[in-house]
Amino acid sequence: MTSFLDTITPEVLHTDPYPVYQRLRRDHPVAEIPALGCWLVTRRQDVRQVMSDGQTFTTRFPSAMSDIYGSENILSSSGDTHKGMRAGVEEIFEPERAGPAREYARKLVIERVSGMRGRADLMGEALQPVAAEVFRWMLSLEVDSTTLLRLAHAVWPGILDPGDPAKLAVSAAAMNELDAALTPWLEELGPDPSSAIARWRHVTPGSGCPRGVAEVLPTIRVVLPSLPEPGWAAGSLLVALFNDPDQRRLVRDHPELLGDAVHELLRWMPPFGLVERVTTRPVELDGTHLPAGAHVVAAIGSANRDETVFEQPDTFDLRRPRQPLATFGYGEHTCLVRAFIPAIVEGMVAGVLDVHPGVRADPSEPSRVAGWATRYTARLCVDGLGDPATGYTQGHRRAADAHLGVARG
Ligand code: HEM
Repeated sequence: MTSFLDTITPEVLHTDPYPVYQRLRRDHPVAEIPALGCWLVTRRQDVRQVMSDGQTFTTRFPSAMSDIYGSENILSSSGDTHKGMRAGVEEIFEPERAGPAREYARKLVIERVSGMRGRADLMGEALQPVAAEVFRWMLSLEVDSTTLLRLAHAVWPGILDPGDPAKLAVSAAAMNELDAALTPWLEELGPDPSSAIARWRHVTPGSGCPRGVAEVLPTIRVVLPSLPEPGWAAGSLLVALFNDPDQRRLVRDHPELLGDAVHELLRWMPPFGLVERVTTRPVELDGTHLPAGAHVVAAIGSANRDETVFEQPDTFDLRRPRQPLATFGYGEHTCLVRAFIPAIVEGMVAGVLDVHPGVRADPSEPSRVAGWATRYTARLCVDGLGDPATGYTQGHRRAADAHLGVARG
């Protein structure tokens, strides 16, 4: 008889991983999945343990993509080497500095959408190009953002399907092009406290020498795939708001709730859903014995819907009390720019809704949210650009206020 675990395939997860995760959390929280060739970890407490215990669950293991990134990068390193790599740059991405990132993203989106009327694909025409420019700006890279966007998109198929040599070759070619574009600039780059990359090159605790270009490039390569993620998150938030008129009205009537909506989106539909580790020793996790050398995949998307932490976890509800999320990871490798991403997503969505209050889904080309390692809609076709806000009455306003317990005179 076929067991439930045998029915779990990449295709099933690609369509919608969440029903599978729900059953795994309940019955098989740490499960070896034959079709995936890994152990899938789905409960929040276990996902946190996998990412927090870097001694037992290491980020440093051979893989086709680690050969392409270069093995000495920020994600594959640990201990003092890793601390040294973060030490110089963490200050740049402190939460107090996130405001300008929000404003920059908002301004760029407004520039792109202001002239739009009627229909458009907001993902391709605004959110992705803006994500690329914000990425370039955050790292102060001297490469144009159109090139960065093209290269980031070229890398993903190899990450998602490392068993396909043709896709890996495209990823490797994109990384080589990135290296060629960056190397002359990096060679000349002097110390500059305002630049993340200059800090990576020149802030080297315990050593008097700057890092060589070949020591900096693998870390730029490993973060390049993150470039589209804020745009994917912004697109998913717009889809969630288009699909739920009540939530849309709450944001429209109470713009100060947009931050809560972004937090909820990053819980409900994180654009990046998995992290990989390999065990360095035999270990027991939630009652399951894992051998040394086990390939472990921690499902961030599942942890964010753990019903022991979140009530009605499958519902998108911006009124939910904010709780810490698994979205940006745990432990020493927690996302370096985790304070900036919500601000950037908020800036992007605010830019669209401020300029086009009547924007709505285009029924002739519905969004298709798909994927499990990454989950997003590749196109976000909308209608109503240039229209005023529609269908919004005093009754709606009172209902929105009632949700929030707001009294109006
Ligand atoms: C919605 C957007 C993003 C999400 C959800 C996200 C999430 C994550 C997660 C889960 C990790 C931990 C990976 C692991 O433990 O294996 C991580 C690490 C990291 N992220 Fe992000 N990320 C996003 C965007 C970005 C962007 C745009 C950048 C760069 C500008 C970035 C830079 C990094 C770096 C450098 C690390 C490695 C940190 C380390 O190893 O110490 N992330 N991110």
